Amino acid sequence: MRCLLAIESTCDETAAAVITRDGRVLGECIATQEELHQQFSGVVPEIAARAHLERILPVIDTAMKQSAIAPSDLEAIAVATHPGLPGSLLVGLAAAKGLAVAWQKPLVGINHVQAHIYACGMGARESIFPCVGFVVSGGHTTLYQCNAATDWEYLGGTIDDAAGESFDKVAVMLGLPFPGGPQLAKLAETGRSDAIPFPRPMLDDHSTLNFSFSGLKTAVRYRIAGVGKADWGSITLSSDERSDIAASFQQAVIDCLVGKSIRALKQTGLKRLCVGGGVAANQLFRVQLQNACDRSGIELKIAPRELCTDNAVMGALAWERIDLGELDDLSLDVKPGLLRQKH
Ligand code: KG4
Ligand code: ZN
Repeated sequence: MRCLLAIESTCDETAAAVITRDGRVLGECIATQEELHQQFSGVVPEIAARAHLERILPVIDTAMKQSAIAPSDLEAIAVATHPGLPGSLLVGLAAAKGLAVAWQKPLVGINHVQAHIYACGMGARESIFPCVGFVVSGGHTTLYQCNAATDWEYLGGTIDDAAGESFDKVAVMLGLPFPGGPQLAKLAETGRSDAIPFPRPMLDDHSTLNFSFSGLKTAVRYRIAGVGKADWGSITLSSDERSDIAASFQQAVIDCLVGKSIRALKQTGLKRLCVGGGVAANQLFRVQLQNACDRSGIELKIAPRELCTDNAVMGALAWERIDLGELDDLSLDVKPGLLRQKH
């Protein structure tokens, strides 16, 4: 049985998984850091890196014990090296390098964004390529033409905030705890999505597959506080107003995500759309995107909900690199930042 150990520490989840060549998960562990970042309403990079340092070895240990395999049974150590927070990435890479030396195993660096899309095929253990890949997370809102697992071309993406980031920021305005996306979605269930006509930035601009969410965020702020009013602290909203704002904002984001991704399929002539990243866990988005794909004859693959947010299981992508003979050595380094260009 061929198996590898995958390590993930790109942002604020410390995760490890032992995965077989045919996609079975023998062991898995995720340590979240939500409680550490809650008081700051966002991820603090230095705190994230320190927390990874404390957790990485116990997390790897737990995944290995659960798998009941010996280190000598591993074929490789895979680790997400880009994109992500520099300090967080370095902790995962240092652990992977240490184990690669101690256990005398090859290293395989993984692109975290490509792994989010790879997760779409993991439930059914099938190939999803070629497809349009759509990564919708806290850091990305990006469309790619994915010819193969690691052969990608950039089609378009956000020119300012990512969709998940806008969920998180609007959630703060509504007084919801971090991470705001799931909390805002819950609040939206009790609101009217057509109560407030928030803008759908760039949706009608058919010349581009780019997105923009910062203006929408500002529109929400003005709706809550009033244009030009600075006295933010004295605002009180009724519970109906809060849920209407949440529902109307969420619908505006979803309309942009659905509209542009369908357009990307039409533009490329591809027939399959694969969606991953934390925002892909949003239930209304999943339903509305499925309906839009059905209407347009597009096959939709969304990552299973538990694989939408950061995890190490999607590190199974490393098998694709191993099959191509693309092993890394100890010179492997992190590449922080966003993946905007052709890759
Ligand atoms: O993929 P992910 O775990 O981390 C990044 O690589 O960014 O995505 C996290 C993002 C956060 O912005 C979070 O608020 C958002 O995904 N998110 C959601 C939902 N679940 C997570 N946004 C909207 N609705 C959800 N149900
Ligand atoms: Zn991610």
